[in-house]
Amino acid sequence: MPTYRAPRGTRDLLPPETATWTLLERLAADLATRYGYRRIETPLFELTDVFERGVGEVTDIVEKELFRLAPRTEDGEVWALRPEPTAGIVRAYIQHGMQTWPQPVRLTETGPMFRYDRPQAGRYRQFWQWDIEAIGDPGPAIDAEIIELGTRFYRDAGLRDIEVRLNSIGDLVCRPTYVAELTDYYRARRDALPATEQDRLERNALRLLDSKDPAMAALNAAAPRITDRLCEACADHFAGVLAHLDALGVPYRLEPGLVRGLDYYTRTAFEFYVIGREGQQQAIGGGGRYDGLVELLGGRPTPGIGFGIGIDRLILALAETGAAEPPEPPTVAVVVGSDPADTTGRLRLATDLRAAGIAARADLGHRKLGKQLEAAARDHAHFAVILGDEAASGEVGLRDLPAGTQKLVPIGDLAREIERAEAIHRHGAGTA
Ligand code: HAM
Repeated sequence: MPTYRAPRGTRDLLPPETATWTLLERLAADLATRYGYRRIETPLFELTDVFERGVGEVTDIVEKELFRLAPRTEDGEVWALRPEPTAGIVRAYIQHGMQTWPQPVRLTETGPMFRYDRPQAGRYRQFWQWDIEAIGDPGPAIDAEIIELGTRFYRDAGLRDIEVRLNSIGDLVCRPTYVAELTDYYRARRDALPATEQDRLERNALRLLDSKDPAMAALNAAAPRITDRLCEACADHFAGVLAHLDALGVPYRLEPGLVRGLDYYTRTAFEFYVIGREGQQQAIGGGGRYDGLVELLGGRPTPGIGFGIGIDRLILALAETGAAEPPEPPTVAVVVGSDPADTTGRLRLATDLRAAGIAARADLGHRKLGKQLEAAARDHAHFAVILGDEAASGEVGLRDLPAGTQKLVPIGDLAREIERAEAIHRHGAGTA
């Protein structure tokens, strides 16, 4: 047993799995650029207040899962690791006066989030999100743009059966009446509520609706539905979102019980699921509109909408649905040599090849040529560059390892020669 292990609920990401991560992060970054979302980086920790006010005090994320840091400043600032990026991004939007930029401000951020949750499959204490936010547009067209972007990402990542579950949870005009009605509904059934839900009932009845407690399932199914009680403006907005999604051909399923686990949402709320994995009750992504959040954190009233897509859960889903793992980029050439002690010569040649854009490494051990060649083949390198006596006349051996052929090449032509052979190898002899 090792003395130290990664903390519970966290994982080391190792090769070759990291190749999938690199690919997904690149895909997310490329899509964000294509859709006009620009990168923002916010700190991994913020004043705890940002999350308490932003995400909401009566939420699992703040009540139970916040990684609070021990206070250590003279002026008594209290920090927490970010459980999600939206509150921090909105804090930055206000701090940097982004309301004076052309609206909406489209932003994207990818990175680790921290929730002190009970660890289990697909639920980690450190996990990665790809986040998208559009701040300053009341919708409904942009709501559809963002939902379509999410579905495209999953599809391009190789996940076929994605379902968008969609709801509107109203706004400050219609939601209070609804919440009052919901509170009455649960109060009348108080004896059937688990203790934690009884406790939450008077503080935020909406949270009971997305309770994961099995004892709540039947009660929640029969609870009053917000969609039947939307004010006219919210109903119109929701109809607009659906019309735009229909026009884009994005399928969705209306889910009147979907309220999301964060307090900042207004109107549009959605989650992404893999069809066939619903039993796990784990969304692989989710988001929605937060028209009150900028004001709540001290800015001028400004609408916003976004999503967070869990990269860890996406990778689990890809593995479960049998999607192919991307191959790791291979080492193209390994520089070996007949003089085991001549590490300088091998390192210099590999450095020159890398400067010319070729993925190369030098064998820096002090073993015999035969052993160096064996190691290069085990690495699945395409070429071994062999530094031998011919180096005195400016030539090296170039061995095509899979083909078993070898020739002498002037050192000055080496990079070009490898590139040419690689291109033939990649595209087939006829097209190069
Ligand atoms: P969220 O639904 O709390 O939303 O998280 C988004 C996604 O992050 C989830 O659907 C899931 O894939 C992943 N996730 C959450 N918790 C964990 C965990 N413990 N382990 C692994 N994956 C997890 C938000 O965070 C909002 N900020 C989304 C948003 C952006 N809304 C508007 N803009």
